[in-house]
Amino acid sequence: SLAKVSLKVNGKACDLELDTRTTLLDALREHLHLTGSKKGCDQGQCGACTVMVNGRRINSCLTLAVMQQGSEVTTIEGLGTPENMHPMQEAFVKCDGYQCGYCTSGQICSAVAVLGEIKEGIPSHVTEDLMKPPSWDSSEIRERMSGNLCRCGAYSNIMEAITQVAG
Ligand code: FES
Repeated sequence: SLAKVSLKVNGKACDLELDTRTTLLDALREHLHLTGSKKGCDQGQCGACTVMVNGRRINSCLTLAVMQQGSEVTTIEGLGTPENMHPMQEAFVKCDGYQCGYCTSGQICSAVAVLGEIKEGIPSHVTEDLMKPPSWDSSEIRERMSGNLCRCGAYSNIMEAITQVAG
């Protein structure tokens, strides 16, 4: 069945009428033509579809668009433009943080959110010790980025880019 969904995507109000089974990823890609977010697995295992919803990263293939009614969504297209890149996008270019580029949008959205999580003191859900205060060390960043796979294996350059932005 169809449902009306209102989202704010990259600062713009979007009113959609969607099949209730439409994922946020398909709503972005197929209905809003924001194809920067990629579909790698469509089942929450690769991170290529990572976007930010209300400031938190999410695998957009794992949530239905209707569940995000009223949410603010930021995709790679909203982070920056080729003329005016986000610092994380600049760092990925500078450090060659990609090879084929398929995972890059998800890597960058995740990386921006990871630095926000650490800054806000949000514990990593994958860390063994939930009471451990978040830190800026590269092993913690690597752990928090572990949901974003890169089949080309550009991990060391991706880490270089993120740690440069982390400062
Ligand atoms: Fe969503 Fe792989 S496409 S996690």
